[in-house]
Amino acid sequence: MTAFGKYYTIVILGASGDLAAKKTFPALYGLYREKQLSRDCQIIGYARSDLSPEKFHDKISQHLKGGDDETKKGFLKLCTYVRGQYDTDEGYQKLEKRCTDYESQHSDERPERLFYLALPPSQFTEVCEHIKKNVYPKKDNGIIRVVIEKPFGHDLKSARELQNSIAPLFSEEEIYRIDHYLGKEMVKNLLVLRFGNELFSGVWNKSHIALIQVSFKEPFGTEGRGGYFDTIGIIRDVMQNHLLQILTLLTMDRPVSFDPEAVRDEKVKVLKAFDTIDANDVLVGQYDKSEDGKKPSYLDDETVAKDSKCITYCAMGIKIHNERWDGVPMVLRAGKALDEGKVEIRIQFKPVARGMFKDIHRNELVIRVQPDEAIYLKINSKIPGVSTETSLTDLDLTYSKRYSKDFWIPEAYESLLRDVLHGNHANFVRDDELDVSWKLFTPFLEALENDPNLNLEKYPYGSKGPKGLRDFLTKHGYVFNEPGSYQWPLTEPDVKGKI
Ligand code: BG6
Repeated sequence: MTAFGKYYTIVILGASGDLAAKKTFPALYGLYREKQLSRDCQIIGYARSDLSPEKFHDKISQHLKGGDDETKKGFLKLCTYVRGQYDTDEGYQKLEKRCTDYESQHSDERPERLFYLALPPSQFTEVCEHIKKNVYPKKDNGIIRVVIEKPFGHDLKSARELQNSIAPLFSEEEIYRIDHYLGKEMVKNLLVLRFGNELFSGVWNKSHIALIQVSFKEPFGTEGRGGYFDTIGIIRDVMQNHLLQILTLLTMDRPVSFDPEAVRDEKVKVLKAFDTIDANDVLVGQYDKSEDGKKPSYLDDETVAKDSKCITYCAMGIKIHNERWDGVPMVLRAGKALDEGKVEIRIQFKPVARGMFKDIHRNELVIRVQPDEAIYLKINSKIPGVSTETSLTDLDLTYSKRYSKDFWIPEAYESLLRDVLHGNHANFVRDDELDVSWKLFTPFLEALENDPNLNLEKYPYGSKGPKGLRDFLTKHGYVFNEPGSYQWPLTEPDVKGKI
């Protein structure tokens, strides 16, 4: 697909909601501020609320960051509001009129329309049907792009139902399924890092890698959204999508090019080689009150069932049966209400041959996705000076130290919306990819949810997670560095051998 030209319409459906106010409009503004959005496009917010133009502007202004007043004013000038229902034609017809009026002023251009559904998935099908019926560009050469957000279903069956209801309306080329982790800078760097460096490319396999870990830690609980979370839990919320996406990028084979379909073909291929996830190879937990009693337990959240068995922490083992990875343990772990907020990837390498060395440390490549993007490689090096001993230190690429602060690194949503405007699907989830990921996770989730004896370990709010975590990681082959054995010349993150 080609990039949008100068004159295009962006419609945000669900414009009065939280996602639109906190993510979608700020992302569009970020693109505008960085001159990545046409000054001549139009942006229409669509929702049921009765909002005057001023109220609408007030609402979307709240979360716009950076830029001066002039820039904000310029952006707001592009944004108008249409009030309408989601389940009747009338509002969509008003939208169609807005689009055609604007397009008729540029009648030599082809109509280009982007619809962003900042709406709950229960409304996707109905809204898509109305878009197709009322607002699909009529001109032969018109372009439409429809952006939807996770959750894409609750399990394989519902994901397929959703897919089957949308597929007859829009071609796969017209649909962009957002997993916002694919827009994060460090996640976008993974393929370059892996395939652009012989140093990594040559050793990225079972002969050299001992273990791959992807971890997601959040320092807060369900605060305010327990009702939603209670029906899905941490596995559906971030593991089946965000963490699996990262693991897929870490384990796929080299695509022939950066062409979106070449990349997505390889992702699907490796996903198909994933072994069934073993519901016995997990550690699951639910957070309890903090040790000082100040932070609530999960069950204290009034919006969740009092006897909820919802999983707020999970560590799971994954195996891939292909030539590259057979026998290499992979661990995904994610938790809420932990001691810190951090998303990182750890690739631990196999030990070097002994003989020359006794108890020498393993190399470890750490890719910190957030906060404070960094890539560091733990290496053994001689202690400087007269000593002949080795110590573990690192080659450190911490972005904030290496790159100027003025350098614009787009936020995930900015990056992905820019991709949509450019017609680039590489960082979006394809239908078959979604299907394989649900095939993988559905039996695993069902086994956990139907297990009457599920060992849901309680862990204190603000802790590292369930007590069994260190043993779980050790069992999967991760070797911890003893506190003090690792010298951090520049960065401080896990001096104490944090897990
Ligand atoms: C969302 C989850 O997809 O990702 C949230 O629904 C989670 O529960 C969020 O907090 C994390 O995203 P980020 O970008 O803040 O790491």
